[in-house]
Amino acid sequence: MEFITYEQDGFVGVITINRPKALNALNSQVLDELNDTLDAVDLETTRALILTGAGDKSFVAGADIGEMSTLTKAEGEAFGKKGNDVFRKLETFPLPVIAAVNGFALGGGCEISMSCDIRICSENAIFGQPEVGLGITPGFGGTQRLARLVGAGMAKQMIYTARNIKADEAYRIGLVNAVYPAEELLDQAKKMAAGIAANAPIAVRNCKKAINDGLQVDMDQAIVIEEKLFGDCFETEDQKAGMGNFLEKDKEKKLKVVPFQNK
Ligand code: CAA
Repeated sequence: MEFITYEQDGFVGVITINRPKALNALNSQVLDELNDTLDAVDLETTRALILTGAGDKSFVAGADIGEMSTLTKAEGEAFGKKGNDVFRKLETFPLPVIAAVNGFALGGGCEISMSCDIRICSENAIFGQPEVGLGITPGFGGTQRLARLVGAGMAKQMIYTARNIKADEAYRIGLVNAVYPAEELLDQAKKMAAGIAANAPIAVRNCKKAINDGLQVDMDQAIVIEEKLFGDCFETEDQKAGMGNFLEKDKEKKLKVVPFQNK
């Protein structure tokens, strides 16, 4: 692959978008390679993913403006679908995905971070949806996911004004869970991923599915989704071992709570 690197570190897979000369902008090739990378993740040995960008300046500076500049209406729609398909694959991926946002997260960069389960960022991170300044709408899910994450009023303000926000404001409005000095960001993401990976993997996957699927339907349907995924856990070794350890009062083996805090 030319623009994506993938490294496995224990139970954790780290996906790096690696096109620093263009501030990791997403062209068709990057999107295709990201799609193939996700397809190749070994679900037997991996329990969490981290998504980040190469270099110390940019996570992802958006969809590739050069590539988009000559698109027709039909081609624009197809390019939107290409991005949406791979972002949706990330969002519904069976494993939790942490976005470690290490700089610019503009347009498609903000959008890809919002397709991840959890966002943490460096102090130099900048978020924004600058599309209307380029004569387009956000096209990789921004009009939908930003409103769901920070509320319609704040999302509309950010999108209509095309104003970028810094890390501290992204934290204040709930777009990111924590802000770290740049040099600590990846370690903090790995620490969080390791904390996730220490827990029962099928239970964690079922939690992701229950939250994601439940948010799409009304509460009566959502709790039925939860009941089924809760029930599934009782067929797992983890449930037998986890509850057995508790009942045997085996303090060593009890699941540990790993706190994570903003710095
Ligand atoms: N697409 C293509 N190339 C990009 C890019 C993008 N989104 N963002 C940056 N680059 C390229 C620049 O063209 C430049 O390339 P050259 O060295 O070959 O000239 C290189 O990356 C470095 O960029 P700058 O020289 O501009 O760096 P800077 O530090 O002066 O500015 C920046 C950084 C503020 C992020 C600026 O690059 C910028 O504004 N980028 C565009 C951000 C943007 O508008 N993103 C949204 C795109 S639209 C979108 O994403 C649609 C959608 O929803 C699907």
